[in-house]
Amino acid sequence: MQSVKDMVVVITGASSGFGAETAKLLGEKGAKLVLGARREDRLKALCDRIGENAVYSVCDISKKDDALALAQKGLDSFGKIDALVNNAGIMPLSFLAKGMVEDWDRMIDVNIKGVLYAIHAVLNHMLERGSGTIINISSIAGLRTNPSTAVYSGTKYAVRAISDGLRMETGGKIRVSCIYPGAFTTELAASIRDESVIEVFRARGFDKIAGDAKRVAEAIVSVLEQNPELSLSDIVIRPTAQAM
Ligand SMILES: NC(=O)c1ccc[n+]([C@@H]2O[C@H](COP(=O)([O-])OP(=O)(O)OC[C@H]3O[C@@H](n4cnc5c(N)ncnc54)[C@H](OP(=O)(O)O)[C@@H]3O)[C@@H](O)[C@H]2O)c1
Repeated sequence: MQSVKDMVVVITGASSGFGAETAKLLGEKGAKLVLGARREDRLKALCDRIGENAVYSVCDISKKDDALALAQKGLDSFGKIDALVNNAGIMPLSFLAKGMVEDWDRMIDVNIKGVLYAIHAVLNHMLERGSGTIINISSIAGLRTNPSTAVYSGTKYAVRAISDGLRMETGGKIRVSCIYPGAFTTELAASIRDESVIEVFRARGFDKIAGDAKRVAEAIVSVLEQNPELSLSDIVIRPTAQAM
């Protein structure tokens, strides 16, 4: 295992959920953090809590220039980027016949384009240095789809394809991990506007089986703590209570 102390880690979607928990855990372990999201008050509070090892850049990751500015903040503040936790995502689920096309567009923009823009922002720097770790957050919904998750699953299947391609193209220099979480308690479901989907979630009792987001943060940190010659390339993590 290696220490994450002084490792420079860029985290997208750091203002809540998995991203915020990962930032707190890495901050306790002495990593240097570059935090990105849209809600500045959350990012500022997190940086105040972590201290001088954390900086932030307000960014909409679906905008290429914002992603580039986030990486530049890391380079200006710490001189290098060792790792990217490519985590920002949204999940406004709906049934296809409802035609909530704007939500489809937003998912494609944030969950696919945002992941690509963040990779673009750090990749050449990592390749020039000959090392780096990129952790992309997919979902169990990226391994199988369900009614109401067609578009969300499509974006998360894409994250898997992007991760596989990235690993193959970076010729063993860059460690690429794709993490597939099951149901964990975060703010993710708050973006669902289709009432019939909310009903399905309630009926299936997802809130009762959902796990603590800290467990996913621990998995992310353990990827970074592996010896450089070891890559945990694909990890499915679910609450034990979530059998399906
Ligand atoms: N929770 C689960 O059960 C679960 C399961 C499988 C996969 N995931 C995936 O895990 C990742 C993290 O989600 P979470 O569960 O932690 O949910 P969350 O609490 O809602 O966090 C999502 C994060 O993404 C950020 N974000 C959203 N749109 C953004 C944009 N346009 N630009 C920049 N940042 C943006 C949000 O910050 P701002 O709103 O401040 O921008 C927030 O920090 C997502 O990719 C999600 O799909 C979650």
